[in-house]
Amino acid sequence: MELFYVSLLCLFVLLVSLSLHLLFFRNRSTLSGPLPPGKTGWPMVGESLEFLSCGWKGHPEKFVFDRMAKYSSHVFKTHLLGEKAAVFCGSPGNKFLFSNENKLVQAWWPNSVNKVFPSSTQTSSKEEAIKMRKMLPNFLKPEALQRYIGIMDHIAGRHFSSNWENKDQVKVFPLCKNYTFWIASRLFVSVEEPTEVAKLLEPFNVLASGLISVPIDLPGTPFYRAVKASNQIRKMLVALIKQRKVDLAEGKASPTQDIMSHMLTTSDENGKFMHELDVADKILGLLIGGHDTASSACTFIVKFLAELPEIYEGVYKEQMEIIKSKAPGELLNWDDIQKMKYSWNVASEVLRLAPPLQGAFREALTDFMYNGFSIPKGWKIYWSANTTHRNPECFPEPEKFDPSRFDGSGPAPYTYVPFGGGPRMCPGKEYARLEILVFIHHVVKRFRWEKIIPDEKIVVDPMPIPAKGLPVRLFPHTA
Ligand code: HEM
Ligand SMILES: *[C@@H]1O[C@H](CO)[C@@H](O)[C@H](O)[C@H]1NC(C)=O
Ligand SMILES: *[C@@H]1O[C@H](CO)[C@@H](O)[C@H](O)[C@H]1NC(C)=O
Ligand SMILES: *[C@@H]1O[C@H](CO)[C@@H](O)[C@H](O)[C@H]1NC(C)=O
Repeated sequence: MELFYVSLLCLFVLLVSLSLHLLFFRNRSTLSGPLPPGKTGWPMVGESLEFLSCGWKGHPEKFVFDRMAKYSSHVFKTHLLGEKAAVFCGSPGNKFLFSNENKLVQAWWPNSVNKVFPSSTQTSSKEEAIKMRKMLPNFLKPEALQRYIGIMDHIAGRHFSSNWENKDQVKVFPLCKNYTFWIASRLFVSVEEPTEVAKLLEPFNVLASGLISVPIDLPGTPFYRAVKASNQIRKMLVALIKQRKVDLAEGKASPTQDIMSHMLTTSDENGKFMHELDVADKILGLLIGGHDTASSACTFIVKFLAELPEIYEGVYKEQMEIIKSKAPGELLNWDDIQKMKYSWNVASEVLRLAPPLQGAFREALTDFMYNGFSIPKGWKIYWSANTTHRNPECFPEPEKFDPSRFDGSGPAPYTYVPFGGGPRMCPGKEYARLEILVFIHHVVKRFRWEKIIPDEKIVVDPMPIPAKGLPVRLFPHTA
Protein backbone atom coordinates (compact mmCIF):
# COMPACT_ATOMS: atom_id res chain seq x y z
CA MET A 1 0.00 0.00 0.00
CA GLU A 2 2.80 2.36 1.01
CA LEU A 3 4.58 1.60 -2.25
CA PHE A 4 1.41 2.24 -4.19
CA TYR A 5 1.16 5.75 -2.85
CA VAL A 6 4.83 6.43 -3.37
CA SER A 7 4.53 5.54 -7.03
CA LEU A 8 1.37 7.60 -7.36
CA LEU A 9 3.26 10.44 -5.75
CA CYS A 10 6.09 10.12 -8.24
CA LEU A 11 3.67 10.13 -11.14
CA PHE A 12 1.86 13.16 -9.82
CA VAL A 13 5.01 15.12 -9.10
CA LEU A 14 6.26 14.23 -12.55
CA LEU A 15 3.19 15.69 -14.24
CA VAL A 16 3.20 18.85 -12.19
CA SER A 17 6.92 19.39 -12.73
CA LEU A 18 6.52 18.93 -16.46
CA SER A 19 3.93 21.67 -16.64
CA LEU A 20 5.95 23.92 -14.37
CA HIS A 21 8.98 23.30 -16.53
CA LEU A 22 7.17 24.75 -19.51
CA LEU A 23 6.11 27.75 -17.46
CA PHE A 24 9.67 28.50 -16.56
CA PHE A 25 10.76 29.40 -20.08
CA ARG A 26 9.33 32.86 -19.59
CA ASN A 27 11.09 36.22 -19.51
CA ARG A 28 12.86 36.71 -16.24
CA SER A 29 14.91 39.75 -17.08
CA THR A 30 13.77 41.84 -14.09
CA LEU A 31 16.00 39.71 -11.86
CA SER A 32 19.62 40.71 -11.66
CA GLY A 33 21.11 38.17 -9.27
CA PRO A 34 21.74 34.44 -9.39
CA LEU A 35 19.23 31.95 -8.04
CA PRO A 36 19.91 30.75 -4.50
CA PRO A 37 22.38 27.86 -4.13
CA GLY A 38 21.09 24.34 -3.80
CA LYS A 39 19.96 21.65 -6.13
CA THR A 40 16.51 20.98 -7.40
CA GLY A 41 17.01 17.26 -7.07
CA TRP A 42 16.29 14.60 -9.64
CA PRO A 43 14.79 15.98 -12.79
CA MET A 44 11.04 16.37 -12.28
CA VAL A 45 10.59 14.59 -8.98
CA GLY A 46 12.73 17.19 -7.24
CA GLU A 47 13.61 16.71 -3.62
CA SER A 48 10.07 15.89 -2.48
CA LEU A 49 10.95 12.33 -1.59
CA GLU A 50 13.84 13.38 0.64
CA PHE A 51 11.61 16.01 2.26
CA LEU A 52 8.77 13.60 2.93
CA SER A 53 11.00 10.74 4.03
CA CYS A 54 12.79 12.95 6.58
CA GLY A 55 9.34 13.59 8.05
CA TRP A 56 8.36 9.92 8.06
CA LYS A 57 11.61 9.06 9.80
CA GLY A 58 10.88 11.66 12.42
CA HIS A 59 13.46 14.26 11.36
CA PRO A 60 11.66 16.78 9.19
CA GLU A 61 14.20 19.42 10.16
CA LYS A 62 17.06 17.21 8.91
CA PHE A 63 16.13 18.10 5.35
CA VAL A 64 16.54 21.78 6.15
CA PHE A 65 19.60 21.49 8.37
CA ASP A 66 21.57 19.32 5.91
CA ARG A 67 21.04 21.89 3.20
CA MET A 68 21.76 24.88 5.42
CA ALA A 69 25.12 23.29 6.21
CA LYS A 70 25.82 22.43 2.59
CA TYR A 71 24.66 25.53 0.73
CA SER A 72 23.86 28.51 2.87
CA SER A 73 22.56 29.27 6.33
CA HIS A 74 20.28 31.97 4.87
CA VAL A 75 18.52 30.64 1.83
CA PHE A 76 18.74 27.66 -0.50
CA LYS A 77 16.66 26.44 -3.37
CA THR A 78 14.96 23.11 -3.71
CA HIS A 79 12.01 21.51 -5.38
CA LEU A 80 9.14 20.47 -3.13
CA LEU A 81 5.71 18.96 -3.68
CA GLY A 82 6.07 19.62 -7.38
CA GLU A 83 7.02 23.27 -6.94
CA LYS A 84 10.18 25.31 -7.28
CA ALA A 85 10.91 26.44 -3.80
CA ALA A 86 13.35 28.39 -1.66
CA VAL A 87 13.83 27.74 2.04
CA PHE A 88 14.50 30.88 4.12
CA CYS A 89 16.42 30.19 7.31
CA GLY A 90 17.10 32.00 10.53
CA SER A 91 15.57 35.12 12.08
CA PRO A 92 16.39 37.41 9.10
CA GLY A 93 14.43 35.01 6.90
CA ASN A 94 11.49 35.04 9.30
CA LYS A 95 11.60 38.82 9.52
CA PHE A 96 11.68 39.20 5.77
CA LEU A 97 8.71 36.91 5.20
CA PHE A 98 6.57 38.13 8.09
CA SER A 99 7.05 41.80 7.23
CA ASN A 100 6.50 41.42 3.48
CA GLU A 101 3.22 39.56 3.76
CA ASN A 102 0.88 40.55 0.89
CA LYS A 103 3.63 42.83 -0.48
CA LEU A 104 6.22 40.39 -1.83
CA VAL A 105 4.77 37.13 -0.59
CA GLN A 106 1.40 35.64 0.29
CA ALA A 107 0.29 32.49 2.06
CA TRP A 108 0.34 29.34 0.02
CA TRP A 109 -0.84 25.86 0.90
CA PRO A 110 0.01 22.62 -0.87
CA ASN A 111 -2.58 21.70 -3.49
CA SER A 112 -4.03 18.98 -1.31
CA VAL A 113 -5.04 21.55 1.31
CA ASN A 114 -6.54 23.94 -1.21
CA LYS A 115 -8.68 21.22 -2.70
CA VAL A 116 -10.07 20.08 0.63
CA PHE A 117 -11.07 23.69 1.34
CA PRO A 118 -12.31 24.80 -2.05
CA SER A 119 -14.15 27.86 -0.83
CA SER A 120 -11.19 29.32 1.02
CA THR A 121 -9.57 30.64 -2.13
CA GLN A 122 -11.41 29.57 -5.23
CA THR A 123 -15.12 30.23 -4.96
CA SER A 124 -15.16 33.25 -2.72
CA SER A 125 -13.10 36.10 -4.06
CA LYS A 126 -9.64 36.70 -2.68
CA GLU A 127 -10.77 40.01 -1.21
CA GLU A 128 -13.49 38.20 0.71
CA ALA A 129 -10.88 35.88 2.19
CA ILE A 130 -8.68 38.78 3.27
CA LYS A 131 -11.65 40.55 4.89
CA MET A 132 -12.49 37.38 6.78
CA ARG A 133 -8.93 37.05 7.99
CA LYS A 134 -9.18 40.55 9.46
CA MET A 135 -12.31 39.62 11.41
CA LEU A 136 -11.10 36.27 12.70
CA PRO A 137 -8.80 37.59 15.44
CA ASN A 138 -11.76 39.56 16.88
CA PHE A 139 -13.44 36.36 17.96
CA LEU A 140 -10.25 35.04 19.49
CA LYS A 141 -8.76 38.05 21.25
CA PRO A 142 -8.31 38.06 25.04
CA GLU A 143 -11.39 40.24 25.74
CA ALA A 144 -13.62 37.84 23.83
CA LEU A 145 -12.05 34.76 25.40
CA GLN A 146 -12.03 35.81 29.05
CA ARG A 147 -15.54 34.58 29.71
CA TYR A 148 -14.68 31.20 28.22
CA ILE A 149 -12.05 30.34 30.84
CA GLY A 150 -14.65 29.06 33.30
CA ILE A 151 -16.17 26.90 30.56
CA MET A 152 -12.75 25.46 29.69
CA ASP A 153 -12.19 24.69 33.37
CA HIS A 154 -15.58 22.99 33.62
CA ILE A 155 -14.96 20.80 30.54
CA ALA A 156 -11.44 19.99 31.74
CA GLY A 157 -12.96 18.78 35.01
CA ARG A 158 -15.37 16.50 33.14
CA HIS A 159 -12.59 15.29 30.86
CA PHE A 160 -10.20 14.45 33.67
CA SER A 161 -12.76 12.73 35.83
CA SER A 162 -13.98 10.46 33.04
CA ASN A 163 -10.66 9.80 31.27
CA TRP A 164 -7.80 10.07 33.79
CA GLU A 165 -9.04 9.52 37.31
CA ASN A 166 -8.98 6.01 38.77
CA LYS A 167 -6.61 4.80 36.07
CA ASP A 168 -3.12 3.39 36.70
CA GLN A 169 -1.93 4.24 33.26
CA VAL A 170 -3.15 6.24 30.28
CA LYS A 171 -2.07 7.05 26.74
CA VAL A 172 -1.60 10.80 26.76
CA PHE A 173 -1.87 11.85 23.12
CA PRO A 174 -5.36 10.44 22.39
CA LEU A 175 -6.56 11.96 25.66
CA CYS A 176 -5.16 15.37 24.75
CA LYS A 177 -7.06 15.17 21.48
CA ASN A 178 -10.21 14.31 23.39
CA TYR A 179 -9.63 17.34 25.63
CA THR A 180 -8.89 19.91 22.90
CA PHE A 181 -11.68 18.72 20.65
CA TRP A 182 -14.21 18.68 23.46
CA ILE A 183 -13.31 22.25 24.38
CA ALA A 184 -13.37 23.38 20.76
CA SER A 185 -16.76 21.89 20.01
CA ARG A 186 -18.21 23.50 23.14
CA LEU A 187 -16.64 26.93 22.60
CA PHE A 188 -17.06 27.12 18.84
CA VAL A 189 -20.51 25.57 18.34
CA SER A 190 -21.90 24.73 21.83
CA VAL A 191 -21.78 20.98 21.28
CA GLU A 192 -20.92 19.64 24.71
CA GLU A 193 -22.36 16.16 25.32
CA PRO A 194 -19.74 13.46 24.70
CA THR A 195 -21.84 11.42 22.25
CA GLU A 196 -22.54 14.54 20.15
CA VAL A 197 -18.89 15.59 20.30
CA ALA A 198 -17.80 12.14 19.15
CA LYS A 199 -20.17 12.35 16.14
CA LEU A 200 -18.55 15.63 15.13
CA LEU A 201 -15.06 14.26 15.62
CA GLU A 202 -15.42 11.19 13.41
CA PRO A 203 -15.05 12.91 10.01
CA PHE A 204 -12.26 15.10 11.43
CA ASN A 205 -9.95 12.17 11.90
CA VAL A 206 -10.47 11.17 8.27
CA LEU A 207 -9.88 14.75 7.21
CA ALA A 208 -6.66 15.16 9.15
CA SER A 209 -5.02 12.10 7.65
CA GLY A 210 -5.77 13.21 4.10
CA LEU A 211 -4.93 16.87 4.44
CA ILE A 212 -1.22 16.81 3.77
CA SER A 213 -1.35 14.08 1.18
CA VAL A 214 -0.99 13.66 -2.52
CA PRO A 215 -4.02 15.33 -4.09
CA ILE A 216 -5.19 12.45 -6.25
CA ASP A 217 -8.95 12.41 -6.25
CA LEU A 218 -9.55 8.69 -6.83
CA PRO A 219 -11.82 6.53 -4.66
CA GLY A 220 -9.83 4.91 -1.88
CA THR A 221 -7.05 7.48 -1.54
CA PRO A 222 -6.72 9.38 1.74
CA PHE A 223 -7.21 12.56 -0.22
CA TYR A 224 -10.53 11.42 -1.68
CA ARG A 225 -11.78 10.48 1.76
CA ALA A 226 -10.62 13.85 3.13
CA VAL A 227 -12.61 15.79 0.54
CA LYS A 228 -15.70 13.72 1.36
CA ALA A 229 -15.18 14.22 5.09
CA SER A 230 -14.79 17.98 4.74
CA ASN A 231 -18.08 18.19 2.83
CA GLN A 232 -19.75 16.09 5.50
CA ILE A 233 -18.48 18.40 8.27
CA ARG A 234 -19.56 21.47 6.36
CA LYS A 235 -23.07 20.02 6.09
CA MET A 236 -23.17 19.34 9.82
CA LEU A 237 -21.97 22.86 10.57
CA VAL A 238 -24.47 24.49 8.22
CA ALA A 239 -27.27 22.58 9.96
CA LEU A 240 -26.04 23.84 13.34
CA ILE A 241 -25.83 27.38 11.97
CA LYS A 242 -29.38 27.35 10.57
CA GLN A 243 -30.72 26.11 13.90
CA ARG A 244 -28.71 28.75 15.75
CA LYS A 245 -30.11 31.55 13.59
CA VAL A 246 -33.61 30.46 14.54
CA ASP A 247 -32.67 30.18 18.23
CA LEU A 248 -31.05 33.61 18.21
CA ALA A 249 -34.12 35.17 16.63
CA GLU A 250 -36.37 33.52 19.22
CA GLY A 251 -34.07 34.51 22.07
CA LYS A 252 -33.30 30.88 22.90
CA ALA A 253 -29.58 31.29 22.19
CA SER A 254 -27.24 34.01 23.38
CA PRO A 255 -25.12 36.14 21.04
CA THR A 256 -22.06 35.48 23.21
CA GLN A 257 -22.45 31.81 24.08
CA ASP A 258 -19.85 30.63 21.57
CA ILE A 259 -17.79 31.70 18.56
CA MET A 260 -20.53 30.68 16.12
CA SER A 261 -22.96 33.11 17.79
CA HIS A 262 -20.28 35.80 17.73
CA MET A 263 -19.74 35.30 14.01
CA LEU A 264 -23.44 35.36 13.21
CA THR A 265 -24.10 38.54 15.18
CA THR A 266 -21.00 40.56 14.24
CA SER A 267 -21.04 42.66 11.08
CA ASP A 268 -18.06 44.00 9.15
CA GLU A 269 -17.32 47.72 8.75
CA ASN A 270 -19.97 47.97 6.01
CA GLY A 271 -22.65 46.47 8.22
CA LYS A 272 -22.67 43.18 6.33
CA PHE A 273 -23.03 39.85 8.13
CA MET A 274 -21.18 36.69 7.19
CA HIS A 275 -22.81 34.19 4.88
CA GLU A 276 -23.73 30.81 6.41
CA LEU A 277 -21.23 28.92 4.30
CA ASP A 278 -18.47 31.36 5.21
CA VAL A 279 -19.21 30.89 8.90
CA ALA A 280 -19.10 27.13 8.39
CA ASP A 281 -15.75 27.40 6.60
CA LYS A 282 -14.29 29.67 9.27
CA ILE A 283 -15.33 27.27 12.01
CA LEU A 284 -14.01 24.30 10.05
CA GLY A 285 -10.68 26.13 9.70
CA LEU A 286 -10.59 26.88 13.41
CA LEU A 287 -11.44 23.32 14.39
CA ILE A 288 -8.64 22.02 12.19
CA GLY A 289 -6.10 24.69 13.10
CA GLY A 290 -6.93 24.39 16.76
CA HIS A 291 -7.16 20.77 17.56
CA ASP A 292 -4.08 18.81 16.58
CA THR A 293 -1.67 21.67 17.28
CA ALA A 294 -2.84 22.20 20.84
CA SER A 295 -3.05 18.47 21.57
CA SER A 296 0.53 18.00 20.36
CA ALA A 297 1.58 20.84 22.70
CA CYS A 298 -0.25 19.34 25.71
CA THR A 299 1.29 15.92 25.01
CA PHE A 300 4.82 17.33 24.99
CA ILE A 301 4.16 19.22 28.21
CA VAL A 302 3.30 15.92 29.90
CA LYS A 303 6.42 14.37 28.36
CA PHE A 304 8.82 17.10 29.49
CA LEU A 305 7.30 17.29 32.99
CA ALA A 306 7.83 13.53 33.33
CA GLU A 307 11.50 13.95 32.41
CA LEU A 308 12.22 17.05 34.50
CA PRO A 309 11.12 16.65 38.14
CA GLU A 310 12.43 20.07 39.24
CA ILE A 311 10.41 21.80 36.52
CA TYR A 312 7.35 19.78 37.56
CA GLU A 313 7.86 20.97 41.16
CA GLY A 314 7.86 24.61 40.05
CA VAL A 315 4.67 24.20 38.06
CA TYR A 316 3.00 22.21 40.84
CA LYS A 317 3.84 24.89 43.41
CA GLU A 318 2.45 27.68 41.24
CA GLN A 319 -0.81 25.81 40.55
CA MET A 320 -1.30 24.85 44.22
CA GLU A 321 -0.94 28.54 45.21
CA ILE A 322 -3.82 29.31 42.87
CA ILE A 323 -5.96 26.49 44.25
CA LYS A 324 -5.31 27.69 47.82
CA SER A 325 -6.48 31.20 46.90
CA LYS A 326 -9.88 29.96 45.68
CA ALA A 327 -13.06 28.69 47.27
CA PRO A 328 -13.65 24.94 46.75
CA GLY A 329 -15.34 24.36 43.41
CA GLU A 330 -14.80 27.94 42.23
CA LEU A 331 -13.91 27.96 38.52
CA LEU A 332 -10.69 29.43 37.14
CA ASN A 333 -10.88 33.02 35.93
CA TRP A 334 -8.75 35.58 34.08
CA ASP A 335 -6.83 36.62 37.22
CA ASP A 336 -5.84 33.03 37.91
CA ILE A 337 -4.55 32.64 34.35
CA GLN A 338 -2.41 35.79 34.78
CA LYS A 339 -0.81 34.19 37.83
CA MET A 340 0.36 31.17 35.83
CA LYS A 341 3.57 32.90 34.71
CA TYR A 342 5.98 30.07 35.37
CA SER A 343 3.61 27.49 33.88
CA TRP A 344 3.39 29.54 30.68
CA ASN A 345 7.18 29.91 30.53
CA VAL A 346 7.39 26.12 30.74
CA ALA A 347 4.78 25.74 27.99
CA SER A 348 6.66 28.29 25.85
CA GLU A 349 9.88 26.33 26.25
CA VAL A 350 8.01 23.18 25.18
CA LEU A 351 6.77 25.02 22.08
CA ARG A 352 10.37 26.05 21.34
CA LEU A 353 11.70 22.49 21.51
CA ALA A 354 8.69 20.78 19.93
CA PRO A 355 6.86 23.35 17.77
CA PRO A 356 3.56 21.74 16.70
CA LEU A 357 3.75 23.45 13.31
CA GLN A 358 7.20 22.98 11.83
CA GLY A 359 6.83 25.84 9.37
CA ALA A 360 4.65 27.03 6.54
CA PHE A 361 4.72 28.08 2.91
CA ARG A 362 4.53 31.41 1.14
CA GLU A 363 4.38 32.19 -2.56
CA ALA A 364 6.40 34.96 -4.23
CA LEU A 365 3.93 37.55 -5.61
CA THR A 366 6.58 39.15 -7.78
CA ASP A 367 10.25 38.77 -8.64
CA PHE A 368 12.41 39.99 -5.78
CA MET A 369 15.93 39.83 -4.37
CA TYR A 370 16.77 38.28 -1.04
CA ASN A 371 20.27 38.20 0.42
CA GLY A 372 21.78 38.79 -3.04
CA PHE A 373 19.78 36.01 -4.65
CA SER A 374 16.90 36.19 -7.09
CA ILE A 375 13.55 34.76 -6.09
CA PRO A 376 11.34 34.53 -9.18
CA LYS A 377 7.61 35.24 -9.05
CA GLY A 378 5.59 32.10 -8.34
CA TRP A 379 8.29 30.31 -6.38
CA LYS A 380 7.19 28.78 -3.08
CA ILE A 381 9.06 29.79 0.03
CA TYR A 382 9.22 27.73 3.20
CA TRP A 383 10.01 29.04 6.68
CA SER A 384 10.77 26.65 9.47
CA ALA A 385 10.55 27.17 13.23
CA ASN A 386 13.30 24.73 14.03
CA THR A 387 15.99 26.74 12.16
CA THR A 388 15.92 29.43 14.84
CA HIS A 389 14.54 27.49 17.82
CA ARG A 390 17.60 25.20 17.85
CA ASN A 391 20.17 27.78 16.81
CA PRO A 392 22.77 28.39 19.57
CA GLU A 393 23.14 32.03 18.49
CA CYS A 394 19.44 32.62 19.22
CA PHE A 395 19.14 30.23 22.18
CA PRO A 396 22.40 29.45 24.02
CA GLU A 397 22.66 25.73 24.84
CA PRO A 398 19.64 25.11 22.63
CA GLU A 399 19.05 21.54 23.82
CA LYS A 400 18.73 22.61 27.45
CA PHE A 401 15.18 22.95 28.83
CA ASP A 402 15.25 26.40 30.41
CA PRO A 403 11.95 28.22 31.06
CA SER A 404 13.87 31.31 32.28
CA ARG A 405 14.57 32.16 28.62
CA PHE A 406 11.08 33.68 28.66
CA ASP A 407 11.62 35.87 31.73
CA GLY A 408 11.68 39.61 31.15
CA SER A 409 11.34 40.62 27.53
CA GLY A 410 12.06 37.06 26.34
CA PRO A 411 13.76 35.91 23.12
CA ALA A 412 14.89 38.37 20.43
CA PRO A 413 12.31 39.30 17.76
CA TYR A 414 11.81 36.75 14.96
CA THR A 415 13.77 34.02 16.76
CA TYR A 416 10.84 32.46 18.64
CA VAL A 417 8.10 31.69 16.13
CA PRO A 418 5.91 28.72 17.19
CA PHE A 419 2.87 30.83 16.21
CA GLY A 420 4.46 32.42 13.13
CA GLY A 421 4.52 36.20 12.86
CA GLY A 422 3.32 39.27 11.00
CA PRO A 423 -0.19 39.61 9.60
CA ARG A 424 -0.68 35.85 9.38
CA MET A 425 0.42 35.05 12.88
CA CYS A 426 -1.77 32.35 14.41
CA PRO A 427 -5.08 33.97 15.42
CA GLY A 428 -5.63 31.12 17.91
CA LYS A 429 -2.57 31.95 20.01
CA GLU A 430 -4.46 33.37 22.98
CA TYR A 431 -7.07 30.64 22.83
CA ALA A 432 -4.27 28.04 22.78
CA ARG A 433 -2.57 29.71 25.75
CA LEU A 434 -5.76 29.48 27.80
CA GLU A 435 -6.54 25.87 26.98
CA ILE A 436 -2.94 24.77 27.56
CA LEU A 437 -2.80 26.51 30.97
CA VAL A 438 -6.14 25.03 32.03
CA PHE A 439 -4.81 21.62 30.99
CA ILE A 440 -1.60 22.07 33.01
CA HIS A 441 -3.67 23.17 36.02
CA HIS A 442 -5.80 20.04 35.93
CA VAL A 443 -3.08 17.52 35.24
CA VAL A 444 -0.57 18.67 37.89
CA LYS A 445 -3.18 19.24 40.58
CA ARG A 446 -4.23 15.60 40.26
CA PHE A 447 -1.10 13.59 39.43
CA ARG A 448 2.56 12.93 39.20
CA TRP A 449 3.47 10.54 36.40
CA GLU A 450 6.27 8.62 34.77
CA LYS A 451 6.81 7.53 31.20
CA ILE A 452 6.26 3.83 30.51
CA ILE A 453 8.51 3.81 27.43
CA PRO A 454 11.69 5.65 28.53
CA ASP A 455 13.00 6.57 25.07
CA GLU A 456 9.86 6.65 22.97
CA LYS A 457 10.54 7.80 19.42
CA ILE A 458 9.04 11.05 18.13
CA VAL A 459 7.37 10.97 14.71
CA VAL A 460 6.23 14.02 12.79
CA ASP A 461 3.03 13.34 10.90
CA PRO A 462 2.65 16.31 10.28
CA MET A 463 2.68 17.37 13.96
CA PRO A 464 5.34 15.91 16.23
CA ILE A 465 3.93 13.15 18.44
CA PRO A 466 5.44 10.31 20.46
CA ALA A 467 5.25 7.20 18.26
CA LYS A 468 3.18 5.15 20.74
CA GLY A 469 1.01 8.03 21.98
CA LEU A 470 3.00 8.57 25.20
CA PRO A 471 1.72 5.97 27.69
CA VAL A 472 2.37 7.10 31.28
CA ARG A 473 1.85 5.62 34.75
CA LEU A 474 -0.21 7.92 36.99
CA PHE A 475 0.37 8.59 40.70
CA PRO A 476 -2.51 10.58 42.22
CA HIS A 477 -1.55 13.09 44.92
CA THR A 478 -2.67 11.77 48.27
CA ALA A 479 -4.65 14.61 49.79
C1 HEM B 1 -0.15 25.42 20.34
C2 HEM B 1 -1.07 25.61 19.45
C3 HEM B 1 -0.89 26.29 18.11
C4 HEM B 1 0.23 26.53 17.36
C5 HEM B 1 1.67 26.17 17.69
C6 HEM B 1 -0.20 27.21 16.16
C7 HEM B 1 0.65 27.65 15.15
C8 HEM B 1 0.25 28.35 14.04
C9 HEM B 1 1.15 28.92 13.06
C10 HEM B 1 2.68 28.85 13.09
C11 HEM B 1 0.40 29.54 12.11
C12 HEM B 1 0.88 30.39 10.94
C13 HEM B 1 1.18 29.62 9.69
C14 HEM B 1 1.75 30.54 8.64
O1 HEM B 1 2.65 31.35 8.92
O2 HEM B 1 1.29 30.44 7.50
C15 HEM B 1 -1.00 29.32 12.48
C16 HEM B 1 -2.08 29.77 11.73
C17 HEM B 1 -3.39 29.56 12.12
N1 HEM B 1 -3.84 29.04 13.31
FE1 HEM B 1 -2.69 28.29 14.79
N2 HEM B 1 -1.56 27.36 16.19
C18 HEM B 1 -2.02 26.83 17.37
C19 HEM B 1 -3.32 26.81 17.82
C20 HEM B 1 -4.38 27.30 17.13
C21 HEM B 1 -5.74 27.33 17.64
C22 HEM B 1 -6.16 26.84 19.02
C23 HEM B 1 -6.51 27.84 16.65
C24 HEM B 1 -7.99 28.10 16.63
C25 HEM B 1 -8.67 28.47 17.66
C26 HEM B 1 -5.64 28.14 15.53
C27 HEM B 1 -6.06 28.66 14.32
C28 HEM B 1 -5.22 29.05 13.31
C29 HEM B 1 -5.69 29.58 12.03
C30 HEM B 1 -7.15 29.75 11.60
C31 HEM B 1 -4.54 29.90 11.28
C32 HEM B 1 -4.50 30.48 9.86
C33 HEM B 1 -4.37 31.98 9.92
C34 HEM B 1 -4.28 32.60 8.53
O3 HEM B 1 -4.38 31.88 7.55
O4 HEM B 1 -4.11 33.83 8.46
N3 HEM B 1 -4.36 27.80 15.86
N4 HEM B 1 -1.05 28.61 13.65
C1 LIG C 1 12.19 40.51 -21.58
O1 LIG C 1 11.73 41.68 -20.95
C2 LIG C 1 12.47 42.87 -21.25
C3 LIG C 1 11.90 44.03 -20.49
O2 LIG C 1 11.48 43.66 -19.22
C4 LIG C 1 12.45 43.10 -22.74
O3 LIG C 1 13.30 44.23 -23.04
C5 LIG C 1 12.95 41.90 -23.51
O4 LIG C 1 12.82 42.12 -24.89
C6 LIG C 1 12.15 40.66 -23.11
N1 LIG C 1 12.69 39.49 -23.75
C7 LIG C 1 11.94 38.58 -24.33
C8 LIG C 1 12.63 37.40 -24.91
O5 LIG C 1 10.72 38.66 -24.35
C1 LIG D 1 -13.88 11.83 25.18
O1 LIG D 1 -14.00 10.97 26.30
C2 LIG D 1 -15.32 10.71 26.71
C3 LIG D 1 -15.27 9.92 27.99
O2 LIG D 1 -14.48 8.78 27.87
C4 LIG D 1 -16.04 9.95 25.60
O3 LIG D 1 -17.35 9.64 26.00
C5 LIG D 1 -16.05 10.84 24.37
O4 LIG D 1 -16.66 10.17 23.30
C6 LIG D 1 -14.65 11.29 23.99
N1 LIG D 1 -14.81 12.31 23.01
C7 LIG D 1 -14.05 12.41 21.95
C8 LIG D 1 -14.34 13.54 21.06
O5 LIG D 1 -13.17 11.60 21.70
C1 LIG E 1 14.13 20.12 15.88
O1 LIG E 1 15.46 19.82 15.53
C2 LIG E 1 16.16 18.95 16.40
C3 LIG E 1 17.51 18.71 15.84
O2 LIG E 1 18.24 19.86 15.72
C4 LIG E 1 15.43 17.64 16.58
O3 LIG E 1 16.11 16.83 17.53
C5 LIG E 1 14.02 17.88 17.03
O4 LIG E 1 13.31 16.67 17.08
C6 LIG E 1 13.32 18.84 16.11
N1 LIG E 1 12.03 19.10 16.66
C7 LIG E 1 10.95 18.75 16.06
C8 LIG E 1 9.69 18.93 16.81
O5 LIG E 1 10.93 18.32 14.95
